[in-house]
Parts: sequence; structure tokens; C-alpha cells
Amino acid sequence: MEPLMASSRFVFFLSPILLLISSQSLAQPEFRSHGCFYEKGNYTTGSTYRTNLNTLLSSLSSPSNNGNGYGFYNSSFGENTDQLHAIALCRGDVRADTCRGCLSNCTQKLTQVCPNQKEAIGFYNECMLRYANRSIYRAMETTPVFPLWWNIQNLSSSDVDGFFHEMRKLLKDLNGQAAANGSLRKFAIGNTTAPNFQPIYGLAQCTPDLAEQACSECLDAAMGNIPAYCERKQGCRVQNPSCTVRYEVNRFYDPTTVVPLPSSPPPPSTSTGGSKSRRSRTVIIIVVPIVVSVVLIVIFFCICLRVRRTKKNLKLRSYFQAATIQMKLDLQNPCNLTWPPLEFPQVTFLKQINLDKADLDLFTGVGFSMEKI
Ligand SMILES: *[C@@H]1O[C@H](CO)[C@@H](O)[C@H](O)[C@H]1NC(C)=O
Ligand SMILES: *[C@@H]1O[C@H](CO)[C@@H](O)[C@H](O)[C@H]1NC(C)=O
Ligand SMILES: *[C@@H]1O[C@H](CO)[C@@H](O)[C@H](O)[C@H]1NC(C)=O
Ligand SMILES: *[C@@H]1O[C@H](CO)[C@@H](O)[C@H](O)[C@H]1NC(C)=O
Ligand SMILES: *[C@@H]1O[C@H](CO)[C@@H](O)[C@H](O)[C@H]1NC(C)=O
Ligand SMILES: *[C@@H]1O[C@H](CO)[C@@H](O)[C@H](O)[C@H]1NC(C)=O
Ligand SMILES: *[C@@H]1O[C@H](CO)[C@@H](O)[C@H](O)[C@H]1NC(C)=O
Repeated sequence: MEPLMASSRFVFFLSPILLLISSQSLAQPEFRSHGCFYEKGNYTTGSTYRTNLNTLLSSLSSPSNNGNGYGFYNSSFGENTDQLHAIALCRGDVRADTCRGCLSNCTQKLTQVCPNQKEAIGFYNECMLRYANRSIYRAMETTPVFPLWWNIQNLSSSDVDGFFHEMRKLLKDLNGQAAANGSLRKFAIGNTTAPNFQPIYGLAQCTPDLAEQACSECLDAAMGNIPAYCERKQGCRVQNPSCTVRYEVNRFYDPTTVVPLPSSPPPPSTSTGGSKSRRSRTVIIIVVPIVVSVVLIVIFFCICLRVRRTKKNLKLRSYFQAATIQMKLDLQNPCNLTWPPLEFPQVTFLKQINLDKADLDLFTGVGFSMEKI
């Protein structure tokens, strides 16, 4: 039994925008919830909008479309007033083929239940899909809230406070991890134990088009909805258009099917441009932390290699997602530190950067490598 308790009463309080959230019949347990945005406009059957919607949705769930490779799909289709935008996201541990199957089911179901609405959103256990006639890419939206209960069993009243305390700690930690996870996937899972030894499993996920800060705000907002929607529940999922938080007493995800994120920075982009002053500010912002980190490595070598000196030199490479800096390190005299340290650093930009809040993501992938030369 998987009752769904998304009632329109709750939603009216939270968002006058959404006019319907309906529960699904138990014969279709996977389709958890949906919203048809009636006041955002209707299209008529046979209109260009409908044709465009069909095209967009069938390309989205076509077997050849692998999204960004990490369960995220973003596409647009059509012209002028008939232009459509869609975003789809699978839970971070869902395999690519399951993800496609889920999206395929969701595209069919959502157009059935919202037959004339220009904007709609639908949720399965493994995926979500939304479309609109406005751009929704990078739009962080914390309403309407879709509270999706998975476990209606109540915690005994003596356990609630301790359980919720540990659960909140877990989700807060996962929020930080998911938000910091970069632009391909923003997903984190983990477990903890309640004071009564009850295991708690948690999940946090944002659509990865959100910037780190926006994701974190979204997850905070979703967590803020937990007291209202998940009172005493052993398991609960709070979903909004941009992110999900969920906790359960049973493990509801499979950590072994989470595709690892690439560990190296993305390949260099050929795009150039941007104003000169902006670019030089960018250079300073990128280079300073890199140089500082390289100097720290040099000092480390200075301390560690005082005893055992080799004849070789080292090439040090230090990188952020946006830039790489290379330096030659003289291992014979690592302590002869002058400024600028050693040879003039060579900086390689991997990506054109704008100093938007969104691009702070570029600072997340940081690393070092070194090779003997
Ligand atoms: C979306 O459709 C509604 C209703 O037809 C219209 O008022 C609105 O301007 C459209 N939005 C965009 C971005 O075209
Ligand atoms: C769209 O259609 C619904 C009924 O299906 C109606 O209630 C709503 O007012 C319509 N929206 C607009 C913007 O005309
Ligand atoms: C996603 O869609 C938006 C709107 O069409 C577009 O501007 C953006 O470049 C797309 N991003 C990716 C990564 O495909
Ligand atoms: C999609 O629907 C088919 C048929 O109803 C069902 O067998 C399959 O499990 C569904 N897939 C997902 C991922 O929900
Ligand atoms: C859980 O508690 C609520 C009231 O807090 C009650 O209405 C509901 O029936 C309880 N559920 C179960 C399964 O005991
Ligand atoms: C990315 O997510 C994984 C698990 O989902 C987590 O272990 C890791 O710390 C996260 N990375 C960052 C940079 O937070
Ligand atoms: C709980 O999380 C830890 C990592 O934090 C992991 O090693 C362990 O396997 C998890 N336990 C279960 C039952 O999933």
C-alpha cells in the first residue's frame, strides 16, 4: 500500500498558483503526483503548441537521448509563442535505461492528466518532468510543494524528537554535499542512526542547472516544509519543481548504481569574449587561490624533502574547474622560495568564466597533480 496524500488543501495555502494536485489511483503506483498549471494558459488540441509538445517530449524520451549523461535532460522546441521548454531529472542512482523508461511513462501520463495546459509537472518515484512555454532552465522554484509520503507509519511519540533531530542533521549534511556536486549532477545520499538505533536513510537532489547557492537554498526550503508535511512520519519526501529531500527507515536507493562523476575538470572550451575588466577580475579571482595553493605545496615540499633530495624537478599542476596553473619546482632547492615562486606560472583557462553567482560552481573542482620532468 502506497497511499498518496497530496491534498489540494495544503497546496492552496502554499501556492495560489497551482490549482490542482491530484492523487493517482493505486493501480498506477509509480505516478506519484502532478500539477497542471491552469492559470498559466491552455492550448487547444490540434494546435501548434500541442504538436511542438509532442515533438519535444518524444525527443526527450527517445532511446538515443542520453541527456547530460547523469540523468538530466534540458531541451526547447518551437518558435515564438509556440516555443516550449522542458526539464527532466532522474533520481541520481537510477540507471540510464530505467531513467528513459520512467521519462517515457511520465511524458505519456502527464499529457493525459493535463491535456490542455501549457505548463505542467509530474513525478514518478524515479523521475520528474516539467514543461512550460517560459524558460525554466536555471529557474529555482520552491513552490508549489508536493509532499509525497512513502511511509505512513508513525514514529512512537517518545522517539519522534530524537529521530527528527538526527534526520535533520543527516539532511543538512546531504544538502551541502548535493549543492557542491557540480553542474552535471547535484545528488547526495547517506544514512545515520536515530537514538533508538533506528537507521535513517536520506537523499537530497537538485536539478543540476541550479547554481550551488540556489540549490542549497532550494533544499533548505524543502527541509523547511518537513515539519508541516512529515509530522511523525517514518518516511517522507518533499518535492518542489527544483529539488527533493527525502528520508526513510528503509534504504530506498541503490548506492551501487550511482554513476561516478568525472574527477577531472571538463575539457577546454573554445569560447572567448567578455569585457576586459571583467576578465581581469576573473583572472585575479581564479589565479590567487591557485597560486596560494601551489605555494602551500611548495612549503610542504620544503619541509618534507629537506632530508631526501632528488636530482629531478617536478611539474606541479594545480587546477580549479575553470583554470589550471603549472609550475616547475626545483626539488634540489625547494626552500629557496622567492616571489613569484620559481618560474613564472603558466595559467590555462579551461572555460570562459563569468562572475555570476552561478559560476561559483567553477570553483568546486579543485585538485593537484605532479609529474617528474
Ligand atoms: C505563455 O502562455 C501564456 C498564456 O497563453 C501567455 O500569457 C504568456 O505570455 C506565455 N509566456 C511566454 C513566455 O510566451
Ligand atoms: C484553462 O482551462 C481551465 C479549464 O480547463 C480554466 O479553468 C482556466 O481558467 C483556463 N485558463 C486560462 C488562462 O484561460
Ligand atoms: C538548456 O536550455 C536552455 C533554454 O533553452 C538553454 O539556454 C541552455 O543552453 C540549455 N543548456 C544545456 C546545458 O543544454
Ligand atoms: C513504465 O510503464 C510500463 C508499463 O506500464 C511499466 O512496465 C514500467 O515498469 C514503467 N517504468 C517505469 C520506470 O516506471
Ligand atoms: C499517524 O498519526 C496520525 C495523527 O498524527 C493519525 O491520523 C494516523 O492515523 C496515524 N497513522 C498510523 C498508521 O497510525
Ligand atoms: C558529491 O556527492 C557524493 C555522494 O553523492 C559525495 O560523497 C561528495 O562529497 C560530493 N562532492 C562534493 C564536492 O560535495
Ligand atoms: C551507511 O553509510 C555508510 C557511509 O557513510 C556506508 O558505508 C554504509 O554502507 C551505509 N549503510 C547502509 C546500510 O547503507
